[in-house]
Parts: sequence; C-alpha cells; structure tokens
Amino acid sequence: MAVPSVLPLLFGFLAFSVVVFVGSASSSKFTELFQPGWAFDHFLYEGELLKLKLDNYSGAGFSSKSKYMFGKVSIQIKLVEGDSAGTVTAFYMSSDGPNHNEFDFEFLGNTTGEPYLVQTNIYVNGVGNREQRLNLWFDPTKDFHSYTFMWNQRQVVFLVDETPVRVHTNMEKHGLPFPKDQPMGVYSSIWNADDWATQGGRVKTDWSHAPFIASYKGFEIDACECPIAVAADDNAKRCSSSGEKRYWWDEPTLAELNLHQSHQLLWVRANHMVYDYCTDSARFPATPVECQHHRH
Ligand SMILES: *[C@@H]1O[C@H](CO)[C@@H](O)[C@H](O)[C@H]1NC(C)=O
Ligand SMILES: *[C@@H]1O[C@H](CO)[C@@H](O)[C@H](O)[C@H]1NC(C)=O
Repeated sequence: MAVPSVLPLLFGFLAFSVVVFVGSASSSKFTELFQPGWAFDHFLYEGELLKLKLDNYSGAGFSSKSKYMFGKVSIQIKLVEGDSAGTVTAFYMSSDGPNHNEFDFEFLGNTTGEPYLVQTNIYVNGVGNREQRLNLWFDPTKDFHSYTFMWNQRQVVFLVDETPVRVHTNMEKHGLPFPKDQPMGVYSSIWNADDWATQGGRVKTDWSHAPFIASYKGFEIDACECPIAVAADDNAKRCSSSGEKRYWWDEPTLAELNLHQSHQLLWVRANHMVYDYCTDSARFPATPVECQHHRH
C-alpha cells in the first residue's frame, strides 16, 4: 500500500471526527469498496459524490470489489430529477451462478412530478417472482436518502432511511430455503427500461431530457468479507458466530424486528405499498408459503 500524504490523512481524520460526532457508522470512499463495472466514461466523480449517467448510448453500473455474507450494506442515493420516465436505477446484492441469491431495490422513474415506484425483490436459489412495490413518503430526487440491506441468518431486512420496508424471514423450519450460504456482491446501475418500467411500459424515455443522472454517496459496508479463494461452505462457517467469535449481526436483538420497527413496517405496508406478490392471486392461486408469515 502506498504511503498517503499528510493532507488526505488530515482530511480523513476530520471526516472521521464528524462521523463519530453524529454517531453513525463511518462511510467510505467509493473507490475503497467499489469499482466501475461498465461504461467507465459514464461515471462522474465530484469529491465524495459519484454520479452515474444514462444517455442514448449507454447506462452505467458498478460493483463491490469483494463479496460478503451477513451484515449491513448501505448507500445514499439521489435519484434522477425531473423527467425520469423509462429509467431504472437499481441497488442490489447478488451471488453468482445458476442458483444465485439476490436482494433488489429497483427505482422506477416517472414523468415530471409523478412519483417514483420502488420495486423490491428477493431471489433464493435462482427463483425470484417475489416483487413488492411501494411509493415513498418523500421525493427521492430532491435529497440523498439511505437504502440499506441488513442480513443475518434469521432475516433479510430492506430499509429506507432506517425504516424497514420489507422483511424476508428465515422459514427453513417450514422447509423453505433461506439465502445463507452464498457470498454476495453489491451492485448498482442505471439503465433504460422503457419497455416495462414506467406505467407498465406505456411511457417511453424522452431522450431530449438526457443525460439522466443518479448521484451516490455514503458508501457503507459492515459485513463479513469473503475471500474468493475460500469455498462458499467455509465462508459460511467463517461468517457465523461460534464460541468466542461474535458478530454484531448475530445478536439476539437482530433476530427479528423490534416493536418500533414492526410498527414502522406495518405503517409502510398500510400506507405506501401498492403491490405485493403475496396478494396477487391471479399470479399465485395458492398463496406462497412465506407470505403467510408476512401477514401480521
Ligand atoms: C444521441 O443523442 C444525441 C443528442 O440528442 C444525438 O446527437 C445522437 O445522434 C444520438 N445518438 C444515437 C445513437 O441515437
Ligand atoms: C408514475 O405515475 C403514475 C401516475 O401517478 C403512477 O400510476 C405510477 O405508479 C408511477 N410510477 C411508475 C413507475 O409508473
């Protein structure tokens, strides 16, 4: 590792002090945790901000340098302003291979003044079809908001600004597979999806409004890093608490939502959820087993 000069050290120290002062976990620079995946010329770096650009030539995407199991992954995003119809910005975690696991936030753009939709989904062993859609209680294009995955052996929680919007509970005791044995990468991208994204694909991307820009900051990963050279099984073992080795995400208090969070989730579901695969009986005549648990 190169010896850093004194100035960045000083700035690093100041930034660290501020973070400690407000009492939140420290965030990292994009380049410490992530790397551009495609369309490097559609990346704009502005200090601590990263901007991804979508135009009629290309979108752009990035990925984490490492893979992880369990813990917390969070990014602050400010979505495309104004006319974002046809665009999708996604923030997701995914493992590799045909039986991959995946946790998705997909932000579906809209015409000027109309609300974004947030679609979430979960793949377990290569099977998805677990879409939920919600609108937000704020305009996600005006400011940065944090979007987080919290993942342990008991549950996967999707949070928006610390408010849980989705929980996927481990129901292995009911015979359902749970994503707990594959390291996952962290990804984000922006692309054109005007064949389906906005109002069911009826509204197309208006390229006269390009470039469409999504901005990012506050990159945070507090998770168990999985070396690629280590087999998945060994990583699963390494990343689980046992004996003296205790990981924070295995604390009993994180085995399920606390009472306050349960109330928040109920509020989100009652006031902001516009689609839930669990209640789509045209698609699933028999209610998926995991959904019986979702009903409180
Ligand atoms: C993309 O948009 C620019 C500016 O509107 C235009 O000049 C160019 O021809 C377009 N390129 C393609 C591949 O459509
Ligand atoms: C866009 O706005 C329309 C009208 O308010 C709404 O029905 C739709 O759900 C919004 N989102 C998307 C992605 O179409």
